[in-house]
Amino acid sequence: MTANSGEKKQTLGNILVTGGAGYIGATVCSALLDAGWTPIILDNLSQGRKEFTEGRVFYHGDIADRSLLKTIVEKHGPIFGVIHCAALIVVPESVESPETYYRENVSKSLELFAGLREVGCKRIVFSSSAAIYDAVAGFMVTEESPLKPLSPYARTKFMMEMVLEDFCEAYDMRGISLRYFNPIGADPKMRTGTYVKAPTHVLGRLVGVSLGKIPTFEITGTKWPTRDGSGIRDYIHVWDLARAHVKAIESFDRVFNGGTEASSNQSSYRVINLGTGHGVTVRELVAAFEKVHGSAINKKESSPRPGDVAGSFASCDAAESLIGWKAELSVEQGIRDALQWTGIWDRRGDV
Ligand SMILES: NC(=O)c1ccc[n+]([C@@H]2O[C@H](COP(=O)([O-])OP(=O)(O)OC[C@H]3O[C@@H](n4cnc5c(N)ncnc54)[C@H](O)[C@@H]3O)[C@@H](O)[C@H]2O)c1
Repeated sequence: MTANSGEKKQTLGNILVTGGAGYIGATVCSALLDAGWTPIILDNLSQGRKEFTEGRVFYHGDIADRSLLKTIVEKHGPIFGVIHCAALIVVPESVESPETYYRENVSKSLELFAGLREVGCKRIVFSSSAAIYDAVAGFMVTEESPLKPLSPYARTKFMMEMVLEDFCEAYDMRGISLRYFNPIGADPKMRTGTYVKAPTHVLGRLVGVSLGKIPTFEITGTKWPTRDGSGIRDYIHVWDLARAHVKAIESFDRVFNGGTEASSNQSSYRVINLGTGHGVTVRELVAAFEKVHGSAINKKESSPRPGDVAGSFASCDAAESLIGWKAELSVEQGIRDALQWTGIWDRRGDV
């Protein structure tokens, strides 16, 4: 274990961010810092980037290391809440190596939750995924829509939601699972962004084609029952996503204990979708990308890949009523920020 001490100053409190050296976790840390909190990063750097922890409180270690958790609490004092972003996230890899995924995402998260219970940390925000939803007619999913996690990765998310719910029920803890739709973009202040060398997600591939790193963008699947036949997704700017975590942390006590309408349900666990509430098809995303980029890119149509689905977009009413959050940034802004970030990251020689 190594630790950066980071700057010590009076803040609203400590928030432990597991996976805080990763794409989303690091951006969440920036949003927490901007809002006056002290993020404490716990990351084993199996994927994330040390650069994203510079100047921040950082512990290089594993989420399953309970003694490290105790050390963190001894050194920094009480942890107001935890944002649990750490996980392995590559779907095809999870199909090839389910044991690794169940160990890293399930067994180790279970250890983390048990450790949090031990040190008396009672507020947990969990990074879940829209990948656990079943397909629905009309493509819009609410938190009550049927679930059907298809890959081992998605099942690990589904399992940890259930574990968290049971912990909250049994051990006087409070939990919020945030089901992310499709995060895009980078921190608008360009502190953090994606860092994967060969991105498989759609915007990463579009950026790759525009930079000549990938020859052609493939629109995989053109016969889905959507308005133009291509798949539909809900692209949420990662900065909006990060802000939602701050809102969730700051709304915990109101959601579960207060006398507001939102808290009328006295459960100790909630699920909240994080999306924009608007579906964008792959063809529409390509058109938006070409507009922002300023020229057409090489593209072709091809068959769906194994496991592809038509897609979905979020109903965001719960996010608005429970934590007072809604997405503000456009898909175009996400594309602009992704392009600018890639330029910066490339110049650092890391991509
Ligand atoms: N990126 C997406 O499209 C997306 C969509 C839905 C949900 N999510 C969820 O959001 C979270 C963050 O995703 P991301 O895109 O930032 O991924 P990422 O790989 O960039 O970040 C994950 C971080 O967790 C760390 N980590 C992994 N296992 C660890 C362990 N055992 N101990 C300590 N650190 C560990 C990695 O080093 C990495 O820094 C994940 O839980 C993921 O399931 C992501």
